[in-house]
Amino acid sequence: MSLDRAASIDDLRARAKRRIPRFAFDLVDGGAEGERNMRRNTEAFEEVELVPRYMVDVSMIDTKAELFGQTFDLPFGQAPIGMLNAFWPEADLTLARLCKSENVPYVASSAASTTLEELAEAADGNGWFQLYVSGDHTVTEGLISRAEAAGYDVMMVTVDVPAAGKRDRDIRNQLSVPFKFTPEVMLQLAANPVWSLASLRHGKPNIANYADLLQSATSYADVQKTLITPGLTWHQLQQLRDRWKGIFLVKGILHPQDAIKCAELGADGIVISNHGGRQVAFGPPTIEALPAIAEAIDGKLKILLDSGVRRGADILRAKALGADFVLTGRALAYGVGAGGAKGAARAMEILKLELVRALGQLGATSFSSVAASEHSKIHQTH
Ligand SMILES: Cc1cc2nc3c(=O)[nH]c(=O)nc-3n(C[C@H](O)[C@H](O)[C@H](O)COP(=O)(O)O)c2cc1C
Repeated sequence: MSLDRAASIDDLRARAKRRIPRFAFDLVDGGAEGERNMRRNTEAFEEVELVPRYMVDVSMIDTKAELFGQTFDLPFGQAPIGMLNAFWPEADLTLARLCKSENVPYVASSAASTTLEELAEAADGNGWFQLYVSGDHTVTEGLISRAEAAGYDVMMVTVDVPAAGKRDRDIRNQLSVPFKFTPEVMLQLAANPVWSLASLRHGKPNIANYADLLQSATSYADVQKTLITPGLTWHQLQQLRDRWKGIFLVKGILHPQDAIKCAELGADGIVISNHGGRQVAFGPPTIEALPAIAEAIDGKLKILLDSGVRRGADILRAKALGADFVLTGRALAYGVGAGGAKGAARAMEILKLELVRALGQLGATSFSSVAASEHSKIHQTH
């Protein structure tokens, strides 16, 4: 199927699946354990019904969203994704440039396969920095100083990885560090020549911000120890808040009490996220966690939400239940996998057109006017 015939993000995903070797596709597409949480993320969005209101003149529709003093043209941005160049070469830069040209935020992951400095340049004022807190203080501090020097104003600290997620697909695919070219992998490479040649041209992707530190890594355990710590506490999060002069966001919140604590320590916002279902198979979908958090927070900080967003209407569902802004993780990534920069642009176009259409159909002239009391209804099927 050609890119312009792709009608949905799911169509782009299907196209990406045909072009990418299985081990690399699964790396992005997969979720924790049996993937229940990942499935529930999208199902739970579909269960939220919005009730249209008619006889409203919707000939002009405004999709802009104001956040932290900046006006974005659309109410969603790109969530941080590590190692995305393994999915498609130059995926990081492609998405950073797209976000700049569409005037939406791009979040550069600590674990990106492009350095935070290069991504800051590509996103050109629309870049935010996502921090993984390392067990080694000097590693964490090094990243924060670099992010400051690169000009990032927004830092998003991800807190939902006290232990790395167990992803059954990656285990079955025998993903390892350093990467092993098993006979099965060789077959997959041979079956996907476009991907293989493009990847060969761009070199083996790595976790660019830690390239020196990880040179001696011989296992995933080594990589994880450098990137994340099981010892992150509220005390340390407070120190990070005090250390960072700009906007401070906490990503990975699911419990109302944790959201309240983030407000108390002076965060500017939270991202309600379950890491796209990649961490905790037994956890709740984010759209279900949202109403209680929105009630507890009561406007004290900005609420962003991700995990499972595949349709423009999902962005409105999140807004109707109390979110201020949305992030998409895999949606635009599937676009890159489906067709490089053109595929990413197609994914953005699909989400944008769906969003505008859904606003009109809902009887809302702007994203900011979508209100819980007017439109939302939660249809509980379980
Ligand atoms: C391949 C992949 C890598 C990710 N890497 C990171 C990361 O480095 N840091 C982070 O905070 N979240 C990471 N996430 C989670 C995303 O930021 C986001 O929460 C998630 O993708 C949202 O779910 P969705 O993909 O269903 O939209 C990653 C997600 C995927 C799919």
